Amino acid sequence: MATASTILPCAHEEKTIRDFPLPTRQAIVNCGYPEWYKKYRGITGKARVVPLTTEFLDYLKADGIILPPDTPVVSISDRDSGVFSVTNTEDSDGDDEDDDDDGENPAQNFPEVHGAIIAAIAELGGSVYPKLNWSAPKDAAFMLGNTLKCSSPSDVYLLLKSSNFITHDLEHAFDETVDTPDENGKLLKLSDVEYALVLRKWVDVITSVEFRCFVKQRKVVAITQRDLNHYDFLENGREEFLALIQEFFARHLEKTFPEADFVFDVYIPKTLLTESRVWLVDINPYSPKTDTLTFAWQEILNIDPSIPGFKPEFRIIKKNDPEAYGFSQPYSAHKLPREVVDAAAGGAESMLQFKNDWKHIVEGLGGTGINDSSDEDENDKDEEKKDDEVEKKDDGVEKKDDGKVTG
Ligand SMILES: Nc1ncnc2c1ncn2[C@@H]1O[C@H](COP(=O)(O)OP(=O)(O)OP(=O)(O)O)[C@@H](O)[C@H]1O
Ligand SMILES: [Mg+2]
Repeated sequence: MATASTILPCAHEEKTIRDFPLPTRQAIVNCGYPEWYKKYRGITGKARVVPLTTEFLDYLKADGIILPPDTPVVSISDRDSGVFSVTNTEDSDGDDEDDDDDGENPAQNFPEVHGAIIAAIAELGGSVYPKLNWSAPKDAAFMLGNTLKCSSPSDVYLLLKSSNFITHDLEHAFDETVDTPDENGKLLKLSDVEYALVLRKWVDVITSVEFRCFVKQRKVVAITQRDLNHYDFLENGREEFLALIQEFFARHLEKTFPEADFVFDVYIPKTLLTESRVWLVDINPYSPKTDTLTFAWQEILNIDPSIPGFKPEFRIIKKNDPEAYGFSQPYSAHKLPREVVDAAAGGAESMLQFKNDWKHIVEGLGGTGINDSSDEDENDKDEEKKDDEVEKKDDGVEKKDDGKVTG
């Protein structure tokens, strides 16, 4: 797969992953979507960036999943004054007093965000792909039947609240970084991050033409397919894709991105009617946390782009490469049993049925000692949490009282 000729050790000694330079906190911020989007709006897909309030962030961080109704309506307290706000919808039977007793509507605490999400979904054609500053909730796709396609705020909240990747953005974005004071001597803290929800117009992406590009010392040093399957046509298109990426980088990113080292993702679709066009999908930190796919970080570390005639290596999965058979399982640590995925695909009723069946299975195992002292004990405890009460509300929104659903 690798043509080792382009990967040469820097100067004398081979670098190892221990030599990895930790990124600065500012570099992490610069790689956040809300930051780079300001500059590169014209070369990335259509999106809306919704600034997140403290109340919304508290909702995301809270245990349990309580979903609000999707439509903004007149609140009970505001109804007489006619002030528009977001709260519980009145039941068709008018029994709204009882409704209040059943539980709060979390969107009451973040009406601006909730309203902005409803508006953005409508403006973007009815379906969106959500992410926070750095990560999409890809590990929670099973909650919507293995997709991140959202057509309502509830879809978005369900994904965000079920995802460990989102928790990482909220709580660990600055882990393994170094801080350098700005000109006022101020050190960046997580509480300084301006969190935002990014809603991108949904696109049926052709994943074979998505590429990840590594930039070192302001030069593209390595490119890899993102979808680790073999596609015959890629080999013939290699030189064309490389030229397109190099030209895109030189024109748009090389001189304007604030970091010299970073990783960017592009999408290069071509149709019968349109020429190939390069779209920026994301910018990621030059950090071991960014997935290198067909490369190893150690290889990237040892590339020296300053040697005369340097050409980046472009890795494409060949027919018989082990990668083509999925040796690299994305999010494998976040995978769920097939039954959970199937149940989620069947919608709320099916998830509820699964929950009951699962409870019986777990209770049936109770006396067998199967749960005893294995590495999986912690997971079992998490599963118990998942069994907490789920109520099906009259409005069809599934609500969860307590217990974290995240895996
Ligand atoms: N607007 C969109 N509509 C549909 N799918 C999308 C859209 N944007 C991105 N995707 C798909 O989701 C994948 C991941 O998107 P993105 O790179 O933004 O997520 P990420 O969390 O930053 O991923 P990573 O952790 O690998 O950096 C893309 O490779 C693409 O296949
Ligand atoms: Mg990314």
